[in-house]
Amino acid sequence: MILVTGGAGFIGANFVLDWLAATNEPVVNVDKLTYAGNLENLASLQGDTRHVFVQADIGDSTVLSALLQQHQPRAVLNFAAESHVDRSIHGPEDFIQTNVVGTFRLLEAVRAYWSGLPADAKLAFRFLHVSTDEVYGTLGATDPAFTESHNYEPNSPYSASKAASDHLVRAWHHTYGLPVLTTNCSNNYGPLHFPEKLIPLMIVNALAGKPLPIYGDGQQIRDWLYVRDHCSAIRRVLEAGRLGDTYNVGGWNEQANIDIVKTVCALLDELRPRDDGRSYAEQIRFVQDRPGHDRRYAIDARKLERELGWKPAETFETGIRKTVQWYLDHPEWVAHVQSGSYRDWVHQQYSAQEPA
Ligand SMILES: NC(=O)c1ccc[n+]([C@@H]2O[C@H](COP(=O)([O-])OP(=O)(O)OC[C@H]3O[C@@H](n4cnc5c(N)ncnc54)[C@H](O)[C@@H]3O)[C@@H](O)[C@H]2O)c1
Repeated sequence: MILVTGGAGFIGANFVLDWLAATNEPVVNVDKLTYAGNLENLASLQGDTRHVFVQADIGDSTVLSALLQQHQPRAVLNFAAESHVDRSIHGPEDFIQTNVVGTFRLLEAVRAYWSGLPADAKLAFRFLHVSTDEVYGTLGATDPAFTESHNYEPNSPYSASKAASDHLVRAWHHTYGLPVLTTNCSNNYGPLHFPEKLIPLMIVNALAGKPLPIYGDGQQIRDWLYVRDHCSAIRRVLEAGRLGDTYNVGGWNEQANIDIVKTVCALLDELRPRDDGRSYAEQIRFVQDRPGHDRRYAIDARKLERELGWKPAETFETGIRKTVQWYLDHPEWVAHVQSGSYRDWVHQQYSAQEPA
Protein backbone atom coordinates (compact mmCIF):
# COMPACT_ATOMS: atom_id res chain seq x y z
CA MET A 1 0.00 0.00 0.00
CA ILE A 2 0.91 3.67 -0.21
CA LEU A 3 0.63 6.41 2.41
CA VAL A 4 -0.57 9.81 1.26
CA THR A 5 -0.53 12.99 3.36
CA GLY A 6 -2.98 15.83 2.71
CA GLY A 7 -5.34 13.53 0.82
CA ALA A 8 -8.48 15.40 1.87
CA GLY A 9 -7.35 18.59 0.10
CA PHE A 10 -7.82 19.56 -3.52
CA ILE A 11 -4.99 17.72 -5.28
CA GLY A 12 -4.58 14.97 -2.68
CA ALA A 13 -8.25 13.98 -2.87
CA ASN A 14 -8.18 13.94 -6.67
CA PHE A 15 -5.05 11.80 -6.44
CA VAL A 16 -6.61 9.29 -4.00
CA LEU A 17 -9.79 9.01 -6.10
CA ASP A 18 -7.82 8.49 -9.32
CA TRP A 19 -5.45 6.03 -7.65
CA LEU A 20 -8.24 3.82 -6.34
CA ALA A 21 -10.05 4.02 -9.66
CA ALA A 22 -6.92 2.78 -11.44
CA THR A 23 -5.53 0.21 -9.00
CA ASN A 24 -6.50 -1.96 -6.07
CA GLU A 25 -3.51 -0.90 -4.02
CA PRO A 26 -4.82 0.52 -0.71
CA VAL A 27 -4.15 4.06 0.47
CA VAL A 28 -3.58 5.29 4.00
CA ASN A 29 -4.62 8.92 3.94
CA VAL A 30 -3.17 11.11 6.71
CA ASP A 31 -4.68 14.57 6.88
CA LYS A 32 -4.97 17.09 9.70
CA LEU A 33 -8.23 18.43 8.25
CA THR A 34 -7.40 22.11 8.37
CA TYR A 35 -10.00 24.43 6.80
CA ALA A 36 -8.71 23.13 3.41
CA GLY A 37 -9.27 19.46 4.25
CA ASN A 38 -12.71 18.26 3.24
CA LEU A 39 -13.69 14.63 3.72
CA GLU A 40 -16.74 15.24 1.57
CA ASN A 41 -14.22 15.16 -1.30
CA LEU A 42 -13.81 11.45 -0.52
CA ALA A 43 -17.47 10.65 0.09
CA SER A 44 -17.53 8.17 -2.79
CA LEU A 45 -14.98 6.04 -0.89
CA GLN A 46 -17.25 5.58 2.10
CA GLY A 47 -17.16 1.88 3.03
CA ASP A 48 -14.26 1.18 0.65
CA THR A 49 -11.76 -0.83 2.70
CA ARG A 50 -8.92 0.16 0.35
CA HIS A 51 -9.05 3.68 1.83
CA VAL A 52 -7.97 4.18 5.43
CA PHE A 53 -8.40 7.74 6.65
CA VAL A 54 -6.46 8.99 9.67
CA GLN A 55 -6.84 12.50 11.03
CA ALA A 56 -3.31 13.51 12.06
CA ASP A 57 -0.67 16.20 11.66
CA ILE A 58 2.43 15.41 9.57
CA GLY A 59 4.34 17.11 12.39
CA ASP A 60 3.23 14.43 14.87
CA SER A 61 6.21 12.07 14.79
CA THR A 62 4.68 9.57 17.20
CA VAL A 63 1.53 9.05 15.15
CA LEU A 64 3.48 9.02 11.89
CA SER A 65 5.94 6.40 13.12
CA ALA A 66 3.12 4.20 14.43
CA LEU A 67 1.22 4.44 11.13
CA LEU A 68 4.30 3.55 9.10
CA GLN A 69 5.00 0.52 11.28
CA GLN A 70 1.37 -0.58 11.21
CA HIS A 71 0.75 -0.23 7.48
CA GLN A 72 4.26 -0.81 6.01
CA PRO A 73 3.72 1.37 2.92
CA ARG A 74 5.97 0.92 -0.11
CA ALA A 75 5.78 4.67 -0.74
CA VAL A 76 4.90 7.92 1.03
CA LEU A 77 3.54 10.84 -1.01
CA ASN A 78 3.54 14.23 0.69
CA PHE A 79 0.71 16.51 -0.46
CA ALA A 80 0.05 18.04 2.97
CA ALA A 81 0.75 21.76 3.10
CA GLU A 82 -0.63 25.15 3.80
CA SER A 83 -1.17 26.24 0.21
CA HIS A 84 -2.79 29.66 -0.10
CA VAL A 85 -0.43 32.58 -0.85
CA ASP A 86 -2.78 35.25 0.57
CA ARG A 87 -3.10 33.34 3.85
CA SER A 88 0.70 33.05 4.00
CA ILE A 89 0.97 36.84 3.77
CA HIS A 90 -1.52 37.41 6.58
CA GLY A 91 -0.24 34.59 8.82
CA PRO A 92 3.02 32.87 7.83
CA GLU A 93 3.39 30.85 11.06
CA ASP A 94 1.21 27.89 9.97
CA PHE A 95 3.18 27.71 6.72
CA ILE A 96 6.46 27.37 8.57
CA GLN A 97 4.99 24.81 10.96
CA THR A 98 3.43 22.53 8.36
CA ASN A 99 5.49 23.08 5.23
CA VAL A 100 8.90 23.27 6.89
CA VAL A 101 8.74 21.67 10.35
CA GLY A 102 6.03 19.20 9.29
CA THR A 103 8.02 18.07 6.26
CA PHE A 104 11.12 17.71 8.45
CA ARG A 105 9.26 15.55 10.98
CA LEU A 106 7.72 13.47 8.22
CA LEU A 107 11.14 12.94 6.62
CA GLU A 108 12.57 11.84 9.94
CA ALA A 109 9.73 9.39 10.63
CA VAL A 110 10.04 8.01 7.10
CA ARG A 111 13.83 7.74 7.37
CA ALA A 112 13.57 5.72 10.59
CA TYR A 113 10.97 3.42 9.02
CA TRP A 114 12.88 3.05 5.74
CA SER A 115 16.18 2.30 7.56
CA GLY A 116 14.56 -0.66 9.26
CA LEU A 117 13.08 -2.24 6.14
CA PRO A 118 14.43 -5.51 4.73
CA ALA A 119 16.87 -4.96 1.83
CA ASP A 120 14.42 -5.53 -1.05
CA ALA A 121 11.67 -3.34 0.47
CA LYS A 122 14.26 -0.69 1.25
CA LEU A 123 15.39 -0.66 -2.36
CA ALA A 124 11.85 -0.39 -3.68
CA PHE A 125 10.69 2.32 -1.24
CA ARG A 126 9.96 5.88 -2.48
CA PHE A 127 9.25 9.24 -0.81
CA LEU A 128 7.56 11.59 -3.27
CA HIS A 129 7.31 15.27 -2.34
CA VAL A 130 4.69 17.36 -4.13
CA SER A 131 5.86 20.92 -4.66
CA THR A 132 5.20 24.00 -6.73
CA ASP A 133 6.68 26.12 -9.52
CA GLU A 134 6.42 29.13 -7.18
CA VAL A 135 9.76 28.16 -5.58
CA TYR A 136 11.51 29.48 -8.71
CA GLY A 137 10.29 33.05 -8.22
CA THR A 138 9.05 35.28 -11.00
CA LEU A 139 9.87 35.62 -14.71
CA GLY A 140 10.04 38.56 -17.07
CA ALA A 141 7.70 38.58 -20.08
CA THR A 142 10.23 37.06 -22.49
CA ASP A 143 12.30 34.89 -20.12
CA PRO A 144 12.46 31.17 -20.90
CA ALA A 145 10.22 28.92 -18.80
CA PHE A 146 11.50 27.38 -15.54
CA THR A 147 13.55 24.23 -16.00
CA GLU A 148 14.60 21.94 -13.13
CA SER A 149 17.97 23.71 -12.98
CA HIS A 150 16.50 27.20 -12.45
CA ASN A 151 17.63 28.87 -9.22
CA TYR A 152 15.25 28.87 -6.27
CA GLU A 153 14.10 32.48 -5.71
CA PRO A 154 10.85 32.26 -3.70
CA ASN A 155 9.09 35.55 -3.04
CA SER A 156 6.11 34.81 -0.77
CA PRO A 157 6.03 33.16 2.66
CA TYR A 158 4.19 30.26 0.96
CA SER A 159 6.79 29.73 -1.77
CA ALA A 160 9.66 30.23 0.69
CA SER A 161 8.24 27.55 2.97
CA LYS A 162 7.77 25.16 0.03
CA ALA A 163 11.32 25.92 -1.17
CA ALA A 164 12.61 25.10 2.31
CA SER A 165 10.75 21.79 2.26
CA ASP A 166 12.19 20.94 -1.17
CA HIS A 167 15.69 21.59 0.18
CA LEU A 168 15.08 19.33 3.16
CA VAL A 169 13.89 16.54 0.86
CA ARG A 170 16.97 16.99 -1.32
CA ALA A 171 19.27 16.95 1.72
CA TRP A 172 17.66 13.79 3.13
CA HIS A 173 18.55 12.09 -0.15
CA HIS A 174 22.11 13.36 -0.36
CA THR A 175 22.90 12.92 3.32
CA TYR A 176 20.97 9.82 4.33
CA GLY A 177 20.29 8.18 0.96
CA LEU A 178 16.51 8.40 1.40
CA PRO A 179 15.00 7.48 -2.00
CA VAL A 180 13.18 10.72 -2.79
CA LEU A 181 11.47 12.25 -5.80
CA THR A 182 10.17 15.84 -6.07
CA THR A 183 7.62 17.30 -8.46
CA ASN A 184 7.27 21.06 -9.03
CA CYS A 185 3.95 21.76 -10.66
CA SER A 186 2.25 24.85 -12.04
CA ASN A 187 -1.23 26.10 -11.02
CA ASN A 188 -3.83 23.34 -10.86
CA TYR A 189 -7.53 23.70 -11.53
CA GLY A 190 -10.41 21.24 -11.58
CA PRO A 191 -13.08 19.61 -9.37
CA LEU A 192 -12.86 19.85 -5.55
CA HIS A 193 -10.87 23.09 -5.61
CA PHE A 194 -11.54 25.16 -2.48
CA PRO A 195 -13.26 28.38 -3.57
CA GLU A 196 -10.63 30.73 -2.19
CA LYS A 197 -8.45 30.12 -5.26
CA LEU A 198 -8.91 32.05 -8.51
CA ILE A 199 -10.95 29.75 -10.76
CA PRO A 200 -13.45 28.30 -8.24
CA LEU A 201 -13.80 31.71 -6.55
CA MET A 202 -14.77 33.27 -9.88
CA ILE A 203 -17.30 30.52 -10.61
CA VAL A 204 -19.05 30.69 -7.23
CA ASN A 205 -18.98 34.50 -7.06
CA ALA A 206 -20.32 34.81 -10.59
CA LEU A 207 -23.24 32.47 -9.87
CA ALA A 208 -23.98 34.31 -6.60
CA GLY A 209 -24.13 37.67 -8.43
CA LYS A 210 -21.09 38.91 -6.52
CA PRO A 211 -18.12 40.94 -7.86
CA LEU A 212 -15.26 39.01 -9.51
CA PRO A 213 -12.17 40.54 -7.84
CA ILE A 214 -9.01 40.63 -9.97
CA TYR A 215 -5.71 41.69 -8.44
CA GLY A 216 -3.95 44.71 -9.98
CA ASP A 217 -4.18 44.84 -13.76
CA GLY A 218 -4.97 41.10 -14.10
CA GLN A 219 -1.90 40.59 -16.29
CA GLN A 220 -0.18 38.13 -13.94
CA ILE A 221 0.67 35.10 -16.04
CA ARG A 222 0.44 31.53 -14.76
CA ASP A 223 0.68 28.11 -16.36
CA TRP A 224 -2.50 26.10 -15.71
CA LEU A 225 -2.78 22.30 -15.51
CA TYR A 226 -5.92 20.21 -15.05
CA VAL A 227 -5.62 18.51 -11.67
CA ARG A 228 -6.05 14.97 -12.98
CA ASP A 229 -3.09 15.54 -15.30
CA HIS A 230 -1.03 16.53 -12.29
CA CYS A 231 -2.14 13.28 -10.63
CA SER A 232 -1.11 11.21 -13.64
CA ALA A 233 2.29 12.95 -13.64
CA ILE A 234 2.80 12.08 -9.97
CA ARG A 235 1.88 8.44 -10.62
CA ARG A 236 4.37 8.34 -13.48
CA VAL A 237 7.19 9.92 -11.45
CA LEU A 238 6.49 7.53 -8.59
CA GLU A 239 6.66 4.63 -11.00
CA ALA A 240 9.75 5.55 -12.99
CA GLY A 241 11.35 8.75 -11.67
CA ARG A 242 15.11 8.82 -11.14
CA LEU A 243 15.96 8.84 -7.44
CA GLY A 244 16.88 12.25 -6.06
CA ASP A 245 15.61 14.03 -9.18
CA THR A 246 13.06 16.79 -9.48
CA TYR A 247 10.48 16.93 -12.27
CA ASN A 248 8.67 20.04 -13.46
CA VAL A 249 5.01 19.43 -14.28
CA GLY A 250 3.08 21.89 -16.44
CA GLY A 251 0.24 22.28 -18.88
CA TRP A 252 1.94 24.27 -21.67
CA ASN A 253 -0.79 26.79 -21.05
CA GLU A 254 0.37 30.25 -20.00
CA GLN A 255 -2.43 32.71 -19.51
CA ALA A 256 -3.02 36.06 -17.82
CA ASN A 257 -5.42 35.95 -14.87
CA ILE A 258 -7.83 38.34 -16.60
CA ASP A 259 -8.06 35.99 -19.60
CA ILE A 260 -8.75 33.01 -17.31
CA VAL A 261 -11.60 34.93 -15.71
CA LYS A 262 -13.03 36.00 -19.07
CA THR A 263 -12.97 32.36 -20.22
CA VAL A 264 -14.82 31.27 -17.06
CA CYS A 265 -17.40 34.04 -17.64
CA ALA A 266 -17.90 33.01 -21.27
CA LEU A 267 -18.46 29.38 -20.26
CA LEU A 268 -20.96 30.39 -17.61
CA ASP A 269 -22.72 32.66 -20.13
CA GLU A 270 -23.12 29.57 -22.30
CA LEU A 271 -23.91 26.93 -19.67
CA ARG A 272 -25.88 28.94 -17.08
CA PRO A 273 -26.81 32.34 -18.60
CA ARG A 274 -27.64 35.19 -16.24
CA ASP A 275 -31.37 35.87 -15.85
CA ASP A 276 -30.94 39.37 -17.28
CA GLY A 277 -29.14 38.02 -20.36
CA ARG A 278 -25.99 40.09 -19.68
CA SER A 279 -22.50 38.62 -19.41
CA TYR A 280 -20.93 37.53 -16.12
CA ALA A 281 -17.89 39.51 -17.30
CA GLU A 282 -19.76 42.65 -16.18
CA GLN A 283 -19.13 41.50 -12.58
CA ILE A 284 -15.32 41.80 -12.99
CA ARG A 285 -13.74 44.35 -10.61
CA PHE A 286 -10.06 45.25 -10.38
CA VAL A 287 -8.81 45.41 -6.76
CA GLN A 288 -5.53 46.42 -5.14
CA ASP A 289 -2.73 44.02 -6.06
CA ARG A 290 -1.32 41.41 -3.65
CA PRO A 291 1.98 42.58 -2.06
CA GLY A 292 5.01 41.07 -3.80
CA HIS A 293 2.77 39.48 -6.44
CA ASP A 294 4.88 37.42 -8.85
CA ARG A 295 4.35 38.58 -12.42
CA ARG A 296 4.86 35.43 -14.43
CA TYR A 297 5.41 31.70 -13.91
CA ALA A 298 6.06 29.35 -16.82
CA ILE A 299 7.00 25.71 -16.61
CA ASP A 300 9.21 23.79 -18.99
CA ALA A 301 7.97 20.20 -18.53
CA ARG A 302 10.09 18.68 -21.30
CA LYS A 303 12.20 16.56 -18.93
CA LEU A 304 9.11 14.71 -17.72
CA GLU A 305 7.95 14.23 -21.28
CA ARG A 306 11.37 13.18 -22.61
CA GLU A 307 12.42 10.86 -19.78
CA LEU A 308 9.11 9.44 -18.56
CA GLY A 309 6.82 9.96 -21.55
CA TRP A 310 4.24 12.02 -19.63
CA LYS A 311 1.96 14.51 -21.35
CA PRO A 312 -1.22 16.19 -20.13
CA ALA A 313 -4.41 14.61 -21.46
CA GLU A 314 -6.48 17.80 -21.27
CA THR A 315 -6.08 21.06 -23.12
CA PHE A 316 -7.12 24.16 -21.22
CA GLU A 317 -10.29 24.34 -23.32
CA THR A 318 -11.42 20.82 -22.38
CA GLY A 319 -10.25 21.04 -18.76
CA ILE A 320 -11.85 24.38 -17.95
CA ARG A 321 -15.16 23.29 -19.50
CA LYS A 322 -15.16 20.14 -17.33
CA THR A 323 -14.31 22.26 -14.30
CA VAL A 324 -17.08 24.82 -14.77
CA GLN A 325 -19.55 22.01 -15.44
CA TRP A 326 -18.44 20.22 -12.25
CA TYR A 327 -19.17 23.30 -10.13
CA LEU A 328 -22.57 23.69 -11.81
CA ASP A 329 -23.33 20.03 -11.08
CA HIS A 330 -22.24 20.18 -7.41
CA PRO A 331 -24.03 23.09 -5.73
CA GLU A 332 -24.27 21.17 -2.41
CA TRP A 333 -20.48 20.74 -2.25
CA VAL A 334 -20.06 24.50 -2.80
CA ALA A 335 -22.81 25.35 -0.28
CA HIS A 336 -21.26 23.11 2.39
CA VAL A 337 -17.83 24.69 1.88
CA GLN A 338 -19.26 28.20 1.99
CA SER A 339 -21.36 27.58 5.09
CA GLY A 340 -18.56 25.68 6.83
CA SER A 341 -20.84 22.68 7.30
CA TYR A 342 -18.32 20.46 5.45
CA ARG A 343 -16.45 20.42 8.73
CA ASP A 344 -19.43 18.88 10.58
CA TRP A 345 -19.59 16.28 7.86
CA VAL A 346 -16.35 14.81 9.16
CA HIS A 347 -17.94 14.04 12.51
CA GLN A 348 -21.21 12.79 11.05
CA GLN A 349 -19.65 10.49 8.49
CA TYR A 350 -16.43 9.38 10.10
CA SER A 351 -17.23 9.17 13.80
CA ALA A 352 -16.95 5.39 13.58
CA GLN A 353 -13.47 5.59 12.04
CA GLU A 354 -11.20 6.84 14.78
CA PRO A 355 -7.54 7.54 14.01
CA ALA A 356 -5.38 4.44 14.28
N1 LIG B 1 -3.04 23.93 -5.88
C1 LIG B 1 -2.04 24.13 -6.75
O1 LIG B 1 -2.24 24.78 -7.78
C2 LIG B 1 -0.68 23.52 -6.51
C3 LIG B 1 0.27 23.57 -7.53
C4 LIG B 1 1.51 22.96 -7.32
C5 LIG B 1 1.78 22.33 -6.13
N2 LIG B 1 0.85 22.31 -5.14
C6 LIG B 1 1.19 21.59 -3.91
O2 LIG B 1 0.35 20.44 -3.88
C7 LIG B 1 0.03 20.11 -2.54
C8 LIG B 1 -1.47 20.04 -2.36
O3 LIG B 1 -2.03 21.31 -2.71
P1 LIG B 1 -3.60 21.56 -2.64
O4 LIG B 1 -3.90 22.65 -3.59
O5 LIG B 1 -4.31 20.28 -2.73
O6 LIG B 1 -3.72 22.14 -1.16
P2 LIG B 1 -4.99 22.18 -0.20
O7 LIG B 1 -4.77 23.38 0.68
O8 LIG B 1 -6.25 22.08 -0.98
O9 LIG B 1 -4.88 20.85 0.67
C9 LIG B 1 -3.89 20.67 1.64
C10 LIG B 1 -4.31 19.48 2.51
O10 LIG B 1 -3.28 19.28 3.48
C11 LIG B 1 -3.88 19.13 4.76
N3 LIG B 1 -2.92 19.60 5.77
C12 LIG B 1 -2.53 20.88 6.00
N4 LIG B 1 -1.65 20.91 7.02
C13 LIG B 1 -1.47 19.63 7.42
C14 LIG B 1 -0.68 19.01 8.43
N5 LIG B 1 0.11 19.74 9.22
N6 LIG B 1 -0.73 17.67 8.55
C15 LIG B 1 -1.54 16.92 7.77
N7 LIG B 1 -2.33 17.46 6.82
C16 LIG B 1 -2.29 18.79 6.64
C17 LIG B 1 -5.13 19.97 4.71
O11 LIG B 1 -6.09 19.56 5.68
C18 LIG B 1 -5.60 19.72 3.28
O12 LIG B 1 -6.43 18.58 3.20
C19 LIG B 1 0.70 21.18 -1.67
O13 LIG B 1 1.91 20.67 -1.19
C20 LIG B 1 0.92 22.33 -2.62
O14 LIG B 1 2.04 23.10 -2.23
C21 LIG B 1 -0.39 22.89 -5.30
